[in-house]
Amino acid sequence: MTVEARIADSSRGEHDACCLELPHVQFQDSFVEGAAEFAGEGHLDSTYAAFLGFDVDRLRDNFSGFVADLLRMADESRVFLTGYRDCIFWLSDEGLYVGQTSIRPELGTPYLITYGGHIGYSIRPSHRRQGYGRRILQLALEKCAEMGLERALVTCDEDNTASRRIIESNGGVFESGLVMDETVARAEGRAGEKVRKLRYWLELPPA
Ligand SMILES: CC(C)(COP(=O)(O)OP(=O)(O)OC[C@H]1O[C@@H](n2cnc3c(N)ncnc32)[C@H](O)[C@@H]1OP(=O)(O)O)[C@@H](O)C(=O)NCCC(=O)NCCS
Repeated sequence: MTVEARIADSSRGEHDACCLELPHVQFQDSFVEGAAEFAGEGHLDSTYAAFLGFDVDRLRDNFSGFVADLLRMADESRVFLTGYRDCIFWLSDEGLYVGQTSIRPELGTPYLITYGGHIGYSIRPSHRRQGYGRRILQLALEKCAEMGLERALVTCDEDNTASRRIIESNGGVFESGLVMDETVARAEGRAGEKVRKLRYWLELPPA
């Protein structure tokens, strides 16, 4: 789909009222519910909670600390320390948390440029298959354009049918598929599997 067609499509898309918002304590109740759903399928880390040292109980007890830690991941100073910053936004629908996207404008590590890409996203389990996944990538691409990117690398595992559909329906152009090396496969919970990571590029309209 061309950029123009995508813009026209987005003007009559599903979930028009949804938006991306910075993490904020006002989302505590719906976020913790969503995090419990992710934990139930063994993927609490989709929320970055486990990475930041939080389980669901700790999220309830110190949600403001979690939000502060998440926001710090977008600090520009991190680019000098780690090679990238990670800008997290929550998809909100009528003020409630639905999912998150993570935007890494710099792609400053071998992992990100090869497998991770500019954008990650996930939708809380109870809200899947309702079009939110397609919408969150659409909104994340708009954010990337606002950040000055001209194109975005978005990747997915070859057997992640939903993510492939989301990327392709947002205009992703397939570039290559790389079998993940064992270290990466293990880090992604796919030890011993020979799964390809599919790499797609998406041209962004000027912001
Ligand atoms: C991948 C994910 C974001 C999809 O979110 P979602 O809200 O269910 O996606 P949508 O409702 O917008 O569906 C997009 C398409 O995928 C299809 N789809 C959704 N879930 C599917 C599934 N489990 N199996 C097959 N197709 C599926 C939908 O039917 C839709 O198809 P269409 O284009 O023909 O309409 C969600 O499953 C998720 O958070 N998974 C875990 C994290 C993850 O995999 N993130 C992506 C990393 S690359």
